[in-house]
Amino acid sequence: MAVGIFDSGLGGLTVYQGVRERLPDVPLVYFGDNAHAPYGVRDADDIYRLTTAAVERMWDHGCDLVILACNTASAAALRRMQENWVPRDKRVLGVFVPMIEALTERQWGDNSPPREVDVKHVALFATPATVASRAFQRELAFRAIGVDVEAQACGGVVDAIEEGDLILAEALVSSHVDALKRKMPQPDAAVLGCTHYPFMKDAFQKALGPDVQVFSQADIVAESLADYLVRRPQMIGAGGTAKCLTTGDPQKVSARATQFLRQPMVFETA
Ligand code: DGL
Repeated sequence: MAVGIFDSGLGGLTVYQGVRERLPDVPLVYFGDNAHAPYGVRDADDIYRLTTAAVERMWDHGCDLVILACNTASAAALRRMQENWVPRDKRVLGVFVPMIEALTERQWGDNSPPREVDVKHVALFATPATVASRAFQRELAFRAIGVDVEAQACGGVVDAIEEGDLILAEALVSSHVDALKRKMPQPDAAVLGCTHYPFMKDAFQKALGPDVQVFSQADIVAESLADYLVRRPQMIGAGGTAKCLTTGDPQKVSARATQFLRQPMVFETA
């Protein structure tokens, strides 16, 4: 068995890298649905259909536990999957809850009533589908009160990153941050609610200014997974082969992944 990390494309590599550094002995299967990226402009039914198809393939590759490293899939499909699709012996976890626990300084499993937290004005940058789902605000409301969230749908950024056009991505980030600041001039914290955005973290920080704390998911999700596996070690199991799979062109995806992670990455056809 191995732990699966799913994303619509290359963005989940930020989470994959964080998990690999935190849990070097756990075999990981990465699955990028590059043929169907971006997910962020699709409707919820489409995202559900694509995500379940991909996760099923990951089970065939020996993953009993799959992390939806994709915020869009976590926001638009995870709850429906957990309610009536995931078999008893498998687990599918998302990335929103660890992020919100970090933002609200809560430990895993702290189910106490929502309370006041330090951050009051949060800027959420995410895909159009994630923003439309309001999943972030819903999960936050279970844990915190008095937090004003302003969400900015960042159209185009994922496509630019998938195409390796980081100059365009940076220009788009700067215009999305400007748009956000027109609605919320002084956020205390910014959440990069899409796994592709950490590749542009410096651009977000530069546009937001040094006083805004930028939360990105890689380390937060890795830590939360490490914690989960201490409680549920059976979800790793013995053996398992690490591999990177894509529904896209393996050569092109391997080249982009190598460029982004600055280390050799080899993808095979899913
Ligand atoms: N990287 C994904 C996310 O975290 C989705 C990007 C996309 O495919 O639109 O939201």
